[in-house]
Amino acid sequence: MKALEEKINNEGRVLSGDILKVDNFLNHQIDPIFMNEIGKEFAKLFKNENITKILTVESSGIAPAVLTGLQMNVPVVFARKHKSLTLNDNIYSSDVYSYTKQTNNKISINKRYIDENDNVLIIDDFLANGQAVLGLLDIANQAGANAKNVGIVIEKSFQKGHELITQKGIKLESLARIASLNDGKVTFE
Ligand code: G4P
Ligand code: NA
Ligand code: NA
Repeated sequence: MKALEEKINNEGRVLSGDILKVDNFLNHQIDPIFMNEIGKEFAKLFKNENITKILTVESSGIAPAVLTGLQMNVPVVFARKHKSLTLNDNIYSSDVYSYTKQTNNKISINKRYIDENDNVLIIDDFLANGQAVLGLLDIANQAGANAKNVGIVIEKSFQKGHELITQKGIKLESLARIASLNDGKVTFE
């Protein structure tokens, strides 16, 4: 998505450790008009997939997920993160390890909000090592839902996530694909 690449070039900053900071429009301040364009793009890319529900993880996935849900006219469910172990019969949960933050989170979704009649589209802001998406796929699987589609705003293609997801036969659409963040410079694929 050309406009996204321009936005990243104009407003993104590369930090040490291969981190792209996009707090200006995605991760802290949100540009709703631009986010709506992202929603339109995902709606177009997945229009033939008969999606019934969008899944994401709090917090930064929520904005692109909601604008996509608005465009596709389907509900949006965000998995909640919590560090402590919660024994609860009413939730599906999965452990997600973050290589970037070196933290372990349990993500969970109430059983009321996903079931075997759902055909889910997973949306997230970043794809790095793919662990958040794998956790959502695990939850969809526990619920007996169909989950064959993933939409990512910014993919760091030099990390493992892309390969881990596509090798499962999933349709992965990333609106910006970053080949490298070397020398403080963003290079797109
Ligand atoms: P993974 O799910 O692909 O394995 O990602 P990873 O654990 O490596 O990343 C953990 C968190 O860091 C995620 O946010 C992810 O979106 C974010 N992240 C990874 N790389 C970048 C980057 O280059 N720039 C920015 N801005 N974020 C990055 P999270 O912990 O789920 O936090 P939240 O922001 O959604 O609350
Ligand atoms: Na994030
Ligand atoms: Na995220």
